[in-house]
Amino acid sequence: MRQVYKFLKVDNHQKISADIHHYLINHTDILNPKNTVFFNHISPTHVIQHVPSLKAFLDYNFLKPILTAVIVVPPGRENTLHVDQIDPYVRMLWPIKHCQGSLTKMFDIPRESLKANFLDGADHTFNPSHATSFFEIVEQRDWPLIDEFELLQPILIDVSVAHEVHPAPDATEYRISFTMGFDHDLPISKSIEAWSELGY
Ligand SMILES: [Fe+2]
Repeated sequence: MRQVYKFLKVDNHQKISADIHHYLINHTDILNPKNTVFFNHISPTHVIQHVPSLKAFLDYNFLKPILTAVIVVPPGRENTLHVDQIDPYVRMLWPIKHCQGSLTKMFDIPRESLKANFLDGADHTFNPSHATSFFEIVEQRDWPLIDEFELLQPILIDVSVAHEVHPAPDATEYRISFTMGFDHDLPISKSIEAWSELGY
């Protein structure tokens, strides 16, 4: 079976995480407890401009994200199983805060069991410009588990494979991660194996 995730070795990933966290607090309202949404788009240009350590990492690797977003998971949150894209799409996922002890599980779910949906904004009103499309699973079953990981370092993940995040059982804080997606037409967006050719 094709690879569905792969850990990345980034020496200063904790420094970049801390810098992104600082950016989120000082330049966005995403971490405001009154305002928590699961998937929050941010402007790639804006975050790169304000986080020099992230910019240096991307420039060094000739990477230019077209999608940047923050995923916020409250303690005890369940039922997050979904597929982001029907066609293979590899995104980079980065732990920001309180990811220790949480588990991301990936399942083998046939396409017939998916239904397109949209995620609402913070106030639960539907705003097309902020809505995020995804696919939910129409049937509750014990789907075959492909693999699972704890997000303790940056990772590549194919978000066309069904996945769900389980906050740490003893979590008291929001689990925060950051994701970047690249041009859909690039080989690195289509398979994790393509990253190996670039030395990852
Ligand atoms: Fe996802």
